Amino acid sequence: MTTTANESRALDEIKIGGLGSSRKRVEDDRFIRGKGNYTDDVVLPGMLHMEILRSPLPHARIKSIDASKAWAMPGVHLVLTGEMMATRNLAWMPTLSYDTQAVLATDKVRFQGQEVACVIADDPYIAKDACEAIEVDYEPLPVIVNPWQGLAPDAPVIRDDKVNQADNVVYNWEVGDKAGTDRAFAQADVVSKLELHYPRSHPSPIECCGSVADFNRATQKLTVYMTTQAPHIIRAAVAMVAELPEQMIRIISPDIGGGFGNKVPVYPGYVCSILASILLERPVKWIEDKTGNLISTGFARDVYLKGEMALRKDGKVLGVRMHTDADHGAFFSDAQPSKFKIGLMHSAFAAYDIPAAHLTARGVYTNKAPGGVAYRCSFRVTEAMFFQERMVQAAADDLGMDQADFRRMNFVRDDDFPHRTPFGFLTDSGQYAKCLDVGLKAIDYENFRKEQAEARKRGRLLGLGISTMTEPLGAGNSREYDILGIKMFDSAELKVHMTGKAILRTGAKTQGQGHETTWAQIVAHELGIPADDVVVEEGDTDTAPFGMGTYASRSTPVAGAAVAMVARKIRAKARKLAAHLLEVSEEDIEWELGRFYVRSSPQRGVSIQECAMAAYSNMPDGMEPGLENTAYYDPPNLTWPFAVYIVTVEVDPDTGVWDVLRMVAVDDCGVRINPMIVEGQIMGGLTEAYAMSSMQFITFDADGNCVGSNYMDYLLPSAWETPGYELHSEVVTPCPHHPIGAKGIGECAAVGGPAAFVNAVMDALSGTGVRNIDMPVLPDRVWEALTYRRDVSGAPPIRQD
Ligand code: CDP
Repeated sequence: MTTTANESRALDEIKIGGLGSSRKRVEDDRFIRGKGNYTDDVVLPGMLHMEILRSPLPHARIKSIDASKAWAMPGVHLVLTGEMMATRNLAWMPTLSYDTQAVLATDKVRFQGQEVACVIADDPYIAKDACEAIEVDYEPLPVIVNPWQGLAPDAPVIRDDKVNQADNVVYNWEVGDKAGTDRAFAQADVVSKLELHYPRSHPSPIECCGSVADFNRATQKLTVYMTTQAPHIIRAAVAMVAELPEQMIRIISPDIGGGFGNKVPVYPGYVCSILASILLERPVKWIEDKTGNLISTGFARDVYLKGEMALRKDGKVLGVRMHTDADHGAFFSDAQPSKFKIGLMHSAFAAYDIPAAHLTARGVYTNKAPGGVAYRCSFRVTEAMFFQERMVQAAADDLGMDQADFRRMNFVRDDDFPHRTPFGFLTDSGQYAKCLDVGLKAIDYENFRKEQAEARKRGRLLGLGISTMTEPLGAGNSREYDILGIKMFDSAELKVHMTGKAILRTGAKTQGQGHETTWAQIVAHELGIPADDVVVEEGDTDTAPFGMGTYASRSTPVAGAAVAMVARKIRAKARKLAAHLLEVSEEDIEWELGRFYVRSSPQRGVSIQECAMAAYSNMPDGMEPGLENTAYYDPPNLTWPFAVYIVTVEVDPDTGVWDVLRMVAVDDCGVRINPMIVEGQIMGGLTEAYAMSSMQFITFDADGNCVGSNYMDYLLPSAWETPGYELHSEVVTPCPHHPIGAKGIGECAAVGGPAAFVNAVMDALSGTGVRNIDMPVLPDRVWEALTYRRDVSGAPPIRQD
């Protein structure tokens, strides 16, 4: 085989879709043609349908369940109740946070929408009708809708199922240096305080949750198609909880219509469909409806935060105290790293050089659906950064300092990395002041301040909000991060075929982020194989290597790194093949993109494709044939992207309506694999941030009814409401420990964005004495704050009778 002139030149990386190429998303071809293959598209011979009966009451004892009418309905094959589940030891299941959760209620219902029974029938309509024919006799109990009620001495114990649970406290946890923080406060010239509530929110992906369980009696194999962001964890959980042999379980996560953390937990519907399929020996499909999704799954945030900052009068922050009360709902079922009860809340203030900090955190059970899911978030990072940036604004105001100057003065400096944060993380790299300068220049900061002052004189309220933050993305490393003892690392398997085309599989699972596009770009970068020649597969536990799945923007930092590492293993073997083909020793071989050549004679070379052919047809004596390998990547640290979000708004003083004038985003996520995809991630995140800060309201009334469990009340912004974004990518600080220098990006804008919007409205209200308006910053709240010159809380109301 001879080397052509074409192949002998180093390939242009952008031309082959390598690093930095804004390659079009390959998966979109099927998505925009309606050819995606989602869980609901799976249709199997003999398939039955499952529907769930949910509790109308948030807290009630179950006196009896009479399912006889449902059983008698034609087309009904099975009715599952808690009592039946209990006979199989499946009425309760362990959660990903060392708690337990009812699969189907036996003793009590503990939140509105809780799963009480399931019907499996010939079609979903029969199943739904049969659910309505089930008679449940409830004895209502007092309802708890916020932590303060739950902590009252006479509060009913929600989790009376748990031995030794005498109150509603889930945990008490603390981190940081209490004594050092006390000393900092003793030395402070000014102490600035802030209290706020980060309301419940919901990821509301377009596709709801669902599963198709298919137990095959003949082969004893259980195949489950399901909407999960972490298929391998589900396989392990099914094996352990249902005591089925793990090798006989195959979890397939097909196309997913958005996850955002909603599809990480294990939901009762999955478990019931699996048991039903085993009992009936037929495939059983469960597809959640929108209300079911909004009322019972994936709730995030719901945290009350208060804190104070010790300040020197020149603006230096000396210390921070933080306390959080997290409303976990009835079950602590979101995934948290085992060591950190309140997730990575203690990543707060990582961008700032603060000598001492102390955080206390308390989790409380309430009569709400399980909460605390990391919605586009690394385990509570969103709440942490929101509090941080609201606190920073309040502190600068209290000192009478400029918002930007105060931040710049306290930032970790470029030459201070790796930097140990006050709570013990080690941030890796960044150019914080430079990013801020880019943002300020883009928004024309000085001029806006002048304009704002002028407008004030004419009764117009303009505001500018800044949010700057670094956040930890990419859990593990395995030393510190595990879920239920399972260490957090990830994997990639690469098989290069003899024609030089390849298949790559990873332990991550894309839900719309574009892994099929970007992982192939990493292979192209490492091996010079055109990205179009690499097919990427994820989500099938029978074929993909073990991995912890995709959430918390961990894919690029961990699985993406594994892709680079496995490609390097392939390249190492290809080098031996090249030496054999070129009849020189390995030491005499050089590499350029897509080609090995002889150092002393650069025109003599072989392409990576020729090496691939040789791996199957002309390998040296003693070499194992084939060109494939697997890499498990345990990252040395989290990656720490940095972001600056700046918003300008105008508030109408008569109505409280506020409009976004401009929104500037400067994201430094290290090396961008695909700049277009990164921009898409940022725009999506900013839109979610805008939605959370301005319009999304899912709350509970004093009786525990979920208000907002439909899209008439829980608003998703359309293109009409969504502001325009001005994105900046000029600051690039490569991650020093990631093989290709990339940092995660997926959630940054959703994490850092909300504070920018709220800070902008608060800035417009400066001088009114209003310190805080809780999100969503609805016009009526702004109007109330302006009219009565008072803070507006978003905490749910409590029954007074
Ligand atoms: O874990 P998840 O995929 O949600 O988040 P991510 O790792 O931040 O990646 C989101 C998307 O952006 C993926 O397609 C990444 O490959 C891409 N990305 C990129 O092109 N460059 C980066 N530096 C980071 C992410």
